Amino acid sequence: MALLEVTNLSKYFGGLAAVDNVSMEANEGEILGLVGPNGAGKTTMFNLVTGFFRPSRGKIVFKGKNVTGRKPNWIAEKGIVRTFQAANTLFQMRTVRENVLIACHLQYRAGFLRVLLNTPFARREEQETEQHALDLIQTMGLSPVKDEYAGNLPHGHQRMLGVCLALAASPQLLLLDEPVTGLTAEETSTFIGRLRELRDSGITILLVEHNMRAVMGGCDRIIVLNHGRKIAEGSPEEIRANDEVIEAYLGVDADVT
Ligand SMILES: Nc1ncnc2c1ncn2[C@@H]1O[C@H](COP(=O)(O)OP(=O)(O)OP(=O)(O)O)[C@@H](O)[C@H]1O
Ligand SMILES: [Mg+2]
Repeated sequence: MALLEVTNLSKYFGGLAAVDNVSMEANEGEILGLVGPNGAGKTTMFNLVTGFFRPSRGKIVFKGKNVTGRKPNWIAEKGIVRTFQAANTLFQMRTVRENVLIACHLQYRAGFLRVLLNTPFARREEQETEQHALDLIQTMGLSPVKDEYAGNLPHGHQRMLGVCLALAASPQLLLLDEPVTGLTAEETSTFIGRLRELRDSGITILLVEHNMRAVMGGCDRIIVLNHGRKIAEGSPEEIRANDEVIEAYLGVDADVT
């Protein structure tokens, strides 16, 4: 069974179909690439799946449950979590550790009153939360910079931090919108390696990305959008050889080799 099942999904802005009758599935434990030229509808698709936009038509099913039209918080609690195209940190003037800890605390179960009363349960949760934050920091390779201000980090580390913050919400489906933009080739390949580790740990990943080397090297399967429509779907090899895809990218600064 597919983890995410999107059926005949459309989103209109006035007369423009930003997403036009798209059906797609994300299977458990895969990195699924969502690519296409600027304005193809990729971010709109993310906004629909995560509840930031209400679809004009169509259906979104997650783990067999209809989540169409639900609010972002509700959807995040069910296990679909995203990063944003530009923002990577919660607080620039807090350290990496503090940022991740705050994100983890948003998941905190102990409750404010018990924290105030300093009950044993709350104390234990506090320790567990701290450990969880440090584990996430290590997973994304940020241990050496955990005490640096988030705002002072190089770009590559800020991107890793963005993923850490999303992971704090314990996603089953993680949506990443152009996570390697601005990264060096080396940072990009490190980043993709970490995504593959996350996938191997059981997190399904939907990756929007213009960097074709990252997409071709990192994704198990790829879906191509153009003008809101799905024009191709397949393995990286199939996509690379697809004439319609090559044509969609003509004149666009993308390296499909
Ligand atoms: N809130 C909005 N209101 C009106 N039009 C919108 C809105 N959001 C997106 N659009 C339009 O929908 C189309 C798809 O935009 P979208 O941001 O989904 O593209 P994209 O594939 O993410 O592009 P990029 O690669 O540049 O990020 C574009 O024509 C865009 O101008
Ligand atoms: Mg976009």
